Amino acid sequence: MKKFLTVMLALAMCCGVFTGCDKEDKLVVATNAAFAPFEYVEGDKYVGIDMDIAAGFAEYLGLELEVRDMEFDAVVTSVGKNGVDIAMAGLTISEKRKESVDFTEPYYDASQMLIVKSDVTDFDNCTTADEIVNIINTEGVTIGVQGGTTGEMFVKGSEDFGFAGLLNVECKSHSNAGLAVTDMINGNVDYVIVDEMPAKNIAKKMSGVKVIDIKLTDEQYAFGVDKAQPELLEKLNAYLAEIKENGTFDEIINKYFQD
Ligand code: ARG
Repeated sequence: MKKFLTVMLALAMCCGVFTGCDKEDKLVVATNAAFAPFEYVEGDKYVGIDMDIAAGFAEYLGLELEVRDMEFDAVVTSVGKNGVDIAMAGLTISEKRKESVDFTEPYYDASQMLIVKSDVTDFDNCTTADEIVNIINTEGVTIGVQGGTTGEMFVKGSEDFGFAGLLNVECKSHSNAGLAVTDMINGNVDYVIVDEMPAKNIAKKMSGVKVIDIKLTDEQYAFGVDKAQPELLEKLNAYLAEIKENGTFDEIINKYFQD
């Protein structure tokens, strides 16, 4: 019995050591991989701008990359828990999110855009975000968004982002933007509001919809690093500066903006 206990104890210690080692050799990145061209699944791989940067950064650190795909509204708060090191998810910088993560330097300027059915002419004469908002505010429409995103906050209003919110609208949250657009095609929501590049990507792939090419917001994407790892934040900023300097960053952007 005593021997049995000793063996069990030794085993338990080994496991502890191994899981410890395991984690040390890995960079764990949280994302929501339904946001092309920044992160999506192709075959059995995570691809897209953020995922290429994640892979490059893991290599730079000499670590194996583990991507954890989850609902977008869990991404920011997952950081620093269960081994998650960084959120890389086309994440817009906000004061509230800064309570959960330390943001890197911004790497991409973004904005929200409106997706409508191809036959919608309501916004044909618009040239500014205000004009779009004024029209929506009089229509009494239902708008589809991805849950937890700036798009949702733009519709509902947010002190954090400084969004007044749209009037007379019903906001319907979906687990990703593609599903919101499908819901629009099926007649369940009138419009969809989502980040520009994903909006354009969806409009290219799904027929019967178009993007109103006017920026509704001014946002910046950054990566959200575990607050307990300031040295990781420093390294990621250094890596970003390096790939911006040596052309790798532009190569990645061009690769995904082509198709
Ligand atoms: N930029 C928006 C935000 O931060 C949307 C990001 C959605 N990202 C994703 N991987 N689904 O709220």
